[in-house]
Amino acid sequence: MIKKIAILTSGGDAPGMNSAIRAIVKKAEVHGIETFLVKEGYSGLYKGDFVLSSKIDLDENFANGGTIIGSTRFPQFKKLKIRKIAKSKLDEKEIDALVVIGGDGSYKGAQLLHELGVKTIALPGTIDNDISSTDFTIGYDTALNTIVHAIEKIRDTMKSHRRVAIVEVMGRGCGDLALFSGIATGSELIVTKENPKTIDDIAKVIKEQMIKKGKRSTIITVSENIFDDLYALRKEVEKKSGIITREISLSHIQRGGKPTAGERIMTTLMGIKSVDLLYKGKSGIALGMLNGKVVSTPIPESLNIKRKSRKNLTEKINKINQI
Ligand code: F6P
Repeated sequence: MIKKIAILTSGGDAPGMNSAIRAIVKKAEVHGIETFLVKEGYSGLYKGDFVLSSKIDLDENFANGGTIIGSTRFPQFKKLKIRKIAKSKLDEKEIDALVVIGGDGSYKGAQLLHELGVKTIALPGTIDNDISSTDFTIGYDTALNTIVHAIEKIRDTMKSHRRVAIVEVMGRGCGDLALFSGIATGSELIVTKENPKTIDDIAKVIKEQMIKKGKRSTIITVSENIFDDLYALRKEVEKKSGIITREISLSHIQRGGKPTAGERIMTTLMGIKSVDLLYKGKSGIALGMLNGKVVSTPIPESLNIKRKSRKNLTEKINKINQI
């Protein structure tokens, strides 16, 4: 029987992490399980930096962005020696189980700890929506809304000046933030890893929209890590199209902000489920939300599911947004 659970957040922070933590702590309390919060992700686990959850006001913080317990990227956790020390820190406090909230790298850490005998559950915490065992990752919906609001503001000023904006959004290798914000804002061109475009392609769209159709603004939404130098890209596009263009990287504002209502609901349901599973003795499980239901998938399986291709959808949207 589980008596103590630790919780950590890892990788890039994501709105909704705090509401997940709160739900885990509350549900654990229902079962009479004590909860510990691990500071600064896997690095805090390695150092044994734990604090009793009762020391932090989770109700006050649950609807705030970021993660109140801190997060880090800690590649050293790939080393067995480091993981064994981390496990010994849990053993010292007689903590039986760990809930990890993070992206795919964090999932790997949770799986490796499971293999060392720690009971682990992983929740998909990343704005990138790049975990295939869930329809939505924690933070994605909030980031998407942040991007949409930002692009709308950019559109206002571009329209006033008859300009083009190239807006770069996050997502690491995943194009979902670009594609779905592009749909929600009517971006005239969406460029993702699956649908790459050349500078000539971009300039052609701009000329068609601004000169042939006489539009007052054009938005090109681009996933990060496609163009090395956004400024050089804009200069080149401007030269080829003849239209004044600005480049805007939305950068880390995409990761901040209060989680949307949907995000708070999803994380609460996942938090509850994670404790229920640990209570039943389960481990090595990744939680996700599929068709409105919280689902469990073994972590290795979750990491191996191939991402759904969005290539055709992106092409379809680019066509209608350019009509
Ligand atoms: O994984 C989330 C994410 O926000 C990615 O979209 C982005 O590429 C990366 O983190 C940025 O990380 P950092 O804040 O460490 O620069």
